Amino acid sequence: MSVKILAIETSCDETSAAVVVDGVEVLSNIISSQVDVHRKFGGVVPEVASRKHLELINHVLKEALDQAGLNFGDLDAVAVTHGPGLVGALLVGVAAAKAIAFALDIPLIGVNHLEGHIYANFLVRPDLPFPLTCLVVSGGHTDLVLILHHGDYRLLGSTRDDAAGEAFDKVARVLELGYPGGPAIERLAGEGNEEAVDFPRACPGGLDFSFSGLKTAVLQYLHRCRQRGDDVNLADVAASFQKAVVDVLVDRTMEAARNYNCRTIILAGGVAANRRLREVLGCTARREGRELFCPPPLLCTDNAAMIGCAAYYKYLRGELAPLTLNAVPDLPLLSS
Ligand code: KG4
Ligand code: ZN
Repeated sequence: MSVKILAIETSCDETSAAVVVDGVEVLSNIISSQVDVHRKFGGVVPEVASRKHLELINHVLKEALDQAGLNFGDLDAVAVTHGPGLVGALLVGVAAAKAIAFALDIPLIGVNHLEGHIYANFLVRPDLPFPLTCLVVSGGHTDLVLILHHGDYRLLGSTRDDAAGEAFDKVARVLELGYPGGPAIERLAGEGNEEAVDFPRACPGGLDFSFSGLKTAVLQYLHRCRQRGDDVNLADVAASFQKAVVDVLVDRTMEAARNYNCRTIILAGGVAANRRLREVLGCTARREGRELFCPPPLLCTDNAAMIGCAAYYKYLRGELAPLTLNAVPDLPLLSS
């Protein structure tokens, strides 16, 4: 018998609902982005995000069911991201999911947002071979995770300051490219020379990352050029910055894959949509006889289908949440 899960994701600025069958078949994946609302503020405004989620959630849920051709009564379980993320934003999804679970008397499943990002990979390729090295690169996180089995994770390294996506967003703001910064930098970098400026690559130790010095280096470079009255080629700066980020991400991910004997590497999170990162990591992995798998770009950024996939494996393990489930803004990625 198949398991139909309605999944909800409202951790940041995307209101999303999806219906996923058996963790692989996406019947619908509605994503209503608030990007246009937040753009004029240059970033996500938490109070505005919560209010928008509240306005959108019922429409998005209805659309997800309509597109799947299902009624509430056809669902076997409801899943929701309960952290990490913005507390007011998370609460909207959590309250909606609890109301649905209570009204229909079906199981409730709480999903860690980062676990959801990881499961975007299993949504497309459920037969990925363990152990896996996963690089999670989003707006709030940069983590190297060893995945031994479904639900069995070891955190190998993480950022000591800014996340990779945060670095993209901050540098984009400095270059006046708008929000969100990642796609804007990637676009501009395509027209630049990535060897033009030698930005620093930080090695804080072990498999950890650090990106705040890189952001400062970009600021200082622009300041020096302006002081000297030199013309700044912004495309060169964007390309060189992107290369500096990609180089350290690839370097540490490969080290993790070697140390833990992983033949397969997977990517997760919004920055995983970056083509340069996918190309360079893919080539480097192949040269060592390893394989890189990454989800399609639409499944790398926030969406509810990935939450529905992670929830399916939790459902199989019987990991259900009580109706007292709460939003946890700093929820860590732990083995279940
Ligand atoms: O995973 P995500 O959608 O939300 C969080 O969980 O944070 O990631 C959003 C982040 C933003 O910082 C955004 O600038 C970055 O992912 N991003 C990218 C690209 N697309 C999104 N960074 C680099 N290149 C991209 N193409
Ligand atoms: Zn995310």
